[in-house]
Amino acid sequence: MVLATKWVVGPDEKGYFWPNEEAKKHAWVNDPKIYEEAAKDPVAFWEKLASEGITWFKKWDKAYEWNPPYYKWFVGAKLNVCYNCVDRHVEAGKGDKPAIIWIPEPTDEPKRVLTYNDLYREVQKFANVLKNLGVKKGDRVAIYLPMIPEVQIAMLACARIGAVHSVVFSAFSADSLRTRIEDSEAKILITADGYYRRGKIINLKQNADKAVENTTIEKVIVVKRAGIKVDMKEGRDLWWHELMENVSSSCEAESMDSEDMLFLLYTSGTTGKPKGVVHTTGGYIVMAYWSSRWVFDLHEDDIFWCTADIGWITGHTYNCYGPLANGATLLFYEGAPDWPEKDRWWQIIEENKVTVFYTAPTAIRMFAQWGEQWPAKHDLSSLRILGTVGEPIDRDAWMWYFKHIGGSRCPIVDTWWQTETGGTLITSLPGIGPFIPTVAGRPFPGVTADILDSEGKPVGGDTGGYLVIKSPFPPSLLRGLYKDEEKYIETYWKEYGKEIYFTNDGARWIEGKYIRITGRVDDVMNVAGHRLSSAEVENAIDSDERVSECAVVPKPHAIKGEVPVAFVVLKNVEPSEQLKQELIELVKQHIGPTAKPEEIIFVKELPKTRSGKIMRRMLKALLKNEPLGDTTTLQNPESIEHLKEAVGYKG
Ligand code: WT7
Repeated sequence: MVLATKWVVGPDEKGYFWPNEEAKKHAWVNDPKIYEEAAKDPVAFWEKLASEGITWFKKWDKAYEWNPPYYKWFVGAKLNVCYNCVDRHVEAGKGDKPAIIWIPEPTDEPKRVLTYNDLYREVQKFANVLKNLGVKKGDRVAIYLPMIPEVQIAMLACARIGAVHSVVFSAFSADSLRTRIEDSEAKILITADGYYRRGKIINLKQNADKAVENTTIEKVIVVKRAGIKVDMKEGRDLWWHELMENVSSSCEAESMDSEDMLFLLYTSGTTGKPKGVVHTTGGYIVMAYWSSRWVFDLHEDDIFWCTADIGWITGHTYNCYGPLANGATLLFYEGAPDWPEKDRWWQIIEENKVTVFYTAPTAIRMFAQWGEQWPAKHDLSSLRILGTVGEPIDRDAWMWYFKHIGGSRCPIVDTWWQTETGGTLITSLPGIGPFIPTVAGRPFPGVTADILDSEGKPVGGDTGGYLVIKSPFPPSLLRGLYKDEEKYIETYWKEYGKEIYFTNDGARWIEGKYIRITGRVDDVMNVAGHRLSSAEVENAIDSDERVSECAVVPKPHAIKGEVPVAFVVLKNVEPSEQLKQELIELVKQHIGPTAKPEEIIFVKELPKTRSGKIMRRMLKALLKNEPLGDTTTLQNPESIEHLKEAVGYKG
């Protein structure tokens, strides 16, 4: 193993860090010319990457097709994603290499290592289980599993037979799961009896039971993880281990069209209803493969750990498809970062010699607050590259991560992307740099990004604007929102027309070359790196009959980045502490604990525009103690005085 000595130099006079000679030599890409070369002919560039990285059953007839706002990649090509993630590594003689190192939360339980051979066998068996239950190409399968290797097995088995998976975050509520099942019309649900979190067992099956009643779900497959007693409904519920007992371990990988749907992943938009982001086969796996390889510089001996839950896109791309397509070894941890002690993550890194570590700013801020004595207890010298994702990272968190986790040796790749983009689009590459605190970096080679003003003109200098992506669109960009074309166009292709993808993020140029992301510009909050829509939380609160109306806006928070705060107007009832608690409980029930409002503020009125729209912008400014701007355009300017009092506004 190449043990990391020092991989960066810096900071230079501008405060930038750069890869040193050793890092450059080691890296897959180290020549900045790659950006210009890719930009000359991005389609040819992606074609080259697609040919070199992915095994195709049939080559494409046409690489890129664009009918705004729709586009296709590798048209006419045939492939199978599971084949690319599993079979080809076994065929190449790498079957004994660990694919997944699974670390259970309880410390007295041994870790489980699945080699590529193991995956090859388990995935084919489970693919046959699904087939035997009548799952066919194109059918949707809902997956509500915790962080256990059965989740990757289930995803890969779906990909193998051409079924479309829809993974739902295991901490989401029964209601959230139900909404997603209903929208996708899934036939099968895969879940577990329970799982460990902070030493306690979470009863997942109970939630699943509540979610599936009177839906399209015909069968529920239950993984026995926690060994707790659960109700198994006769004729509907089946144990994973029983189904796997007498099933053939040979199942051919279906030949899929490049543009066939690979998976659906629901994410929060500006309305109360989550959107089913559609990802297809060829383009997605090309991006997952190459971004994993280049951004994390994955080599044969790396052990890659991405802490994201499998229920988010980061989990899909970097805890499953990307590293596995590369034949890499990934580490997968079931539990909480602070169980049994606040050094669990650092202990895992030390024990397993993790070389590349990828996490979120919110986690870094939490660890920084707990103190550097926790990582200091462990030898973290196996680490070579650090990554962050999910929200803008502030300078303090960046420096803490660099120093206390990376030992001032490791580059930090700050990766900007979205559920919609399928893979990282903006970052610095470890062999090229620079690594600049608070700056994500350059568009990945072959990606065309720009920053526009509200009129659609590119901003110059360091003026802030809106981040957009231009054609040829990255191969992994979403192909639509499931059964909702109107919303697809409205969300991404209305602001600047059908030829420019609007990210809904603000950004600014640094030296006209690097991009700093400034955050969402729509009514989407970013709570601990999780996307949460104001409207979804509002719907939950509004469902209480004592509530007349409400508005939910983000408030800055030292660790979570943002937290939701609800302004609530009541009908004819008195505000009380108990009512507050009940409303918070309601949100937990509707969405999940991650969505819990930090505060509920009872008010008499909400500020509204003349057309009756709630001015969330003004509520945000009130919470941040920022200038409110012109309040005279409000329908009810008098509401403001009372609101100022309610939040203790100092102006
Ligand atoms: C939103 C997408 C795909 C990663 C996980 C989140 C914010 C993401 C960064 C970053 C600043 C970031 C954006 C984006 N975001 N990465 N490196 N720097 N902001 O995926 O839930 O779809 O959220 O997360 O605001 O639009 P997501």
